[in-house]
Amino acid sequence: MVVVKRNLICGMDIGTSHVRVIVGEVNTDGSINIIGVGTSPSGGLKKGVIVDLDKTVEAIAHAVEEAERMVGASIPSAFLGIVGSQVGLINNRGVVAVSGDDKEITEDDVERVLQAARVIALPPDREIIDVIPREYIVDGYDGIRDPVGMVGVRLEVDAMIITGMVTSIRNLVRCVERAGLEIDGMVLTSLANAEVALSRDEKELGVILIDIGGGTTEIAVFQNGHIKNISVIPVGGDYITNDIAVGLRTPIQTAEKLKLEHGVALPSLASNEATVELAQISGKEARKVSVAELAMIIEPRMVEILHLASRELEKMGVNEPLPAGVVLTGGVSLLRGIVELSEQIFDSSVRVSQPGYVGVKSPIYSTGVGIIHYIQKAHPYGLRDYRGSRQMLPGLFNKIKNWLVEMFD
Ligand SMILES: Nc1ncnc2c1ncn2[C@@H]1O[C@H](COP(=O)(O)OP(=O)(O)OP(=O)(O)O)[C@@H](O)[C@H]1O
Ligand SMILES: [Mg+2]
Repeated sequence: MVVVKRNLICGMDIGTSHVRVIVGEVNTDGSINIIGVGTSPSGGLKKGVIVDLDKTVEAIAHAVEEAERMVGASIPSAFLGIVGSQVGLINNRGVVAVSGDDKEITEDDVERVLQAARVIALPPDREIIDVIPREYIVDGYDGIRDPVGMVGVRLEVDAMIITGMVTSIRNLVRCVERAGLEIDGMVLTSLANAEVALSRDEKELGVILIDIGGGTTEIAVFQNGHIKNISVIPVGGDYITNDIAVGLRTPIQTAEKLKLEHGVALPSLASNEATVELAQISGKEARKVSVAELAMIIEPRMVEILHLASRELEKMGVNEPLPAGVVLTGGVSLLRGIVELSEQIFDSSVRVSQPGYVGVKSPIYSTGVGIIHYIQKAHPYGLRDYRGSRQMLPGLFNKIKNWLVEMFD
């Protein structure tokens, strides 16, 4: 029997409708295999925010158990997704003198300059959750993506600081800890989604990424290779389900099932002849509803959600279509006809994105899989360093363990 060490990353997406736990294995060449998936309905969140700790803990524990069964090992810790409504973006600069006698910039110098960028006055209800280097500047030469190995005296970084609301972070952390896991770190969900959904060219050219989930719609704008802005509106697919339940007088579960199996965003794509049998509430007779009738209920709500997203874009100063168009992800992007409807509303090309791995090929997994990609990419010098703490919040993440699982093959 041989003992092999495997470098595993767990990404946890605690969403309004589902908790999804994804386990990825990072190979020595940096490629990723998805080796575990766990899903559990949430129940404890409203509009992306935890409102019931017990229910959330239960959902996390279920999803983790399921993923553990697939992986064949226990999951000691996870990176969590944090939704844009709970975060703020601040630009800041850091400057340090290059330390080595030979003036060659090392990983240590980069780490120090990122630390310098973290020095910023924050209100007491906010904490830093991530620092994203936009570009490095060496002795005045800007636009450098990776300065390690270059020679210089003065190293600067232009960075984006992501801050989170202390209370919501603590609730998230508490739930995960109560489910028996430690926290490795947090990733803004839009950045996680972008890792799966967007190409480097799209981010350079300018692109809009919209994640339409159960309770929230998160809109992120990327330009010149970086995230420019995010906005979250508290509407999502659950509203569509509600409309169907009210409109057809069915229980929520029936409405959800109808939406998933027969839902269409554009009535013109629905056939008038196709009908679905409905069991009535309180034992009344079954009746039939046409798919077109269902589409007429879905369309106005979908239009409203997309209009609200479009209004948010205007508020962010995006008044014209961006060159790389709109990319949709999240569960609602599975709705038939949503691409056509979104193209009309955004007057732009629209596509749906999903992870490319077997077993998680659906936009519902974009955030969980994206967290793994983000962490792998953001820390090319090794996860061990990351988990070792430097990026972590001093108070919250002082118990980080390394997760190099020893497994028997
Ligand atoms: N095939 C489908 N057609 C239409 N809607 C769908 C489909 N599959 C999932 N949905 C809807 O997508 C929503 C869930 O999406 P997702 O799993 O991305 O949400 P979440 O991440 O849990 O929630 P949030 O991001 O809002 O916190 C639900 O409203 C669900 O009904
Ligand atoms: Mg989501």
